[in-house]
Amino acid sequence: MIQEIEYKQVGQFEKSKFEKIHNEIFPDSSVASKLVAHEIATLIKQKQQEGKPCVLGLATGSSPIKVYEELVSLHRSGELSFSNVVTFNLDEYHPMDASHQQSYYHFMHQHLFDHVDINPENINIPDGTVPLQEMDQYCIDYEMKIKKYGGLDFQLLGIGRTGHIGFNEPGSHPNSGTRIITLDHVTRTDAASDFNGLEHVPKKAVTMGISTILKSKRVLLLAWGHKKASVVKQTVEGEITSNIPASFLQQHKNTTIILDDEAASELTRIKTPWVVDQCIWNEQLKFKAVTWLSQELNKPVLKLTDKDYNDNGMSGLLAVEGSSYDLNIKIFNNLQHSITGWPGGKPDADDTNRPERALPAKKRVLIFSPHPDDDVISMGGTFLRLIDQGHDVHVVYQTSGNIAVTDDEALKFAEVAQNFHSDKDDDTYTKVIEFLRSKNQGDIDILEVRKIKGLIRRMESVGATRYFGLDDEKVHFLDLPFYETGKIMKKPLGEEDIKITEDIIKKIKPHQIYAAGDLADPHGTHKVCLDAIFNAVKNLKTIDFMNDCWVWLYRGAWQEWDVSEIEMAVPLSPHEVSKKTNAILYHQSQKDRVMFQGEDSREFWLRARERNRNTAELYDKLGLADYEAIEAFKRYIF
Ligand code: F6R
Repeated sequence: MIQEIEYKQVGQFEKSKFEKIHNEIFPDSSVASKLVAHEIATLIKQKQQEGKPCVLGLATGSSPIKVYEELVSLHRSGELSFSNVVTFNLDEYHPMDASHQQSYYHFMHQHLFDHVDINPENINIPDGTVPLQEMDQYCIDYEMKIKKYGGLDFQLLGIGRTGHIGFNEPGSHPNSGTRIITLDHVTRTDAASDFNGLEHVPKKAVTMGISTILKSKRVLLLAWGHKKASVVKQTVEGEITSNIPASFLQQHKNTTIILDDEAASELTRIKTPWVVDQCIWNEQLKFKAVTWLSQELNKPVLKLTDKDYNDNGMSGLLAVEGSSYDLNIKIFNNLQHSITGWPGGKPDADDTNRPERALPAKKRVLIFSPHPDDDVISMGGTFLRLIDQGHDVHVVYQTSGNIAVTDDEALKFAEVAQNFHSDKDDDTYTKVIEFLRSKNQGDIDILEVRKIKGLIRRMESVGATRYFGLDDEKVHFLDLPFYETGKIMKKPLGEEDIKITEDIIKKIKPHQIYAAGDLADPHGTHKVCLDAIFNAVKNLKTIDFMNDCWVWLYRGAWQEWDVSEIEMAVPLSPHEVSKKTNAILYHQSQKDRVMFQGEDSREFWLRARERNRNTAELYDKLGLADYEAIEAFKRYIF
């Protein structure tokens, strides 16, 4: 049965001092996507009962994928027919052939149309092959066709980091209709990894206009993840401006923005709820508020005054806590207690106020690394300390990371191997070399090429762990199957991935697990790897040794924990920072021309350095000691 829609409708939303568009926040994008799919399904059925077509405006990109999954599953279970559905897609790259793997035509068929009973004649996707001189007429016809159906009943949207909806980039006019546009550089950078490099991303696209979208009777915009947080805030709370085209949705009477916690994290009511309304002050919120105030006023925690609190909407907090003096000391102590140079616990010390247990003095430690380099990038200093302090450290690389090795790099190794090898006609080398030399953009690597790329990353990892003094038998490679598609698009997490993860945990019986809690990597691999670990530890929960196992989450190359979330802060000396840097540099295939850079174009060692330095500076500014660098962790309770 289709569930009742659980998010509040627009009518129940009152514009506040801060928010100008109705929005609903969910802890998880999967649950939210199901609700969105159910709203669409309800509309399709309602139109069916009225004997009318249901005209849907559809989007591509990562945001709506789970919505389409749910619509397909409703169809498969016999609950939903698309027989009365007419669709108009928002956009298509130009020039772009429908048969291209990255075309939106391909995307829509792959994720939705090939799996439902929609009449192919009812599918409308802008044609990326229309010659430029015919484009104006083509766009007018596209608009006319929407109009002929009585306009869009529903428009699904994602949002780009530039604030684009459809491909209406900054500068788009509210009256704009369907037209050809030039893509913003940021948008092209975001698409670069899908196209195997910025140079292959088309420069133009055909898109419905802002006015086309605003005419839809209902609009739902989806935004997931930390990297959308800033543009979501500008869209929901900022002025209406063509610099953020999504802000024009403030003029639409029936728009809802659906967010996950991360995408909502910059909204004022989430980030600083105390400036919006009365708060219920739990310990976590107090910590967040005080550390925020200290940063906002650029004053160490111990110097905050009653007036500072009152002036910033926190008089309620003072009322609960008595005075700024007591509150400051409490929060300062919390921060102080998070700092430890003994990430595996300090033997023979009172651990009441330490992040880790003193016993057992020698712990079995399992460091999970989603790709073969996240371990050193994100927690290289802590890794080193754990080894130096005598713990039994194992590192487990979850995926092969083969996708991120360039063809040139693989060719280099294959040719070296072929030349070194006495049998020059060895089939494997010839096959690899010939494939790579004739490979076309978008071709999927043959198995042998994937293998050599995976091996390059393996050997780089072993180089780095040997440099840290770790024995080779403590380095494990899982090559989780979900990752091994040869494509950027991975399979969903499967039972086998979880089973492999459980097996390694059972084998090592760790007292500590470290895992990448970074949910913002561009292709979601970290998130899948983390889900594999969460599932595995939950499944193993009842086994005895797990009672003694603590899970610590680090963050990857893309973001850091908010200071109020950090439960263990490990300071690094200048010497440790330079050893960590050297370890990162062992990953030569990820240097210079990194394929999956994300939004930051700097090399990983530089980003890691700066991030750890920033965390140290933050602690210093809050009034704690001035360390060279700090790596930060948050505990996960399972
Ligand atoms: C897609 C589209 C774009 C995307 C936006 C977000 O048809 O028009 O506006 O919705 O770029 O992309 P994702 O969802 O991949 O973050």
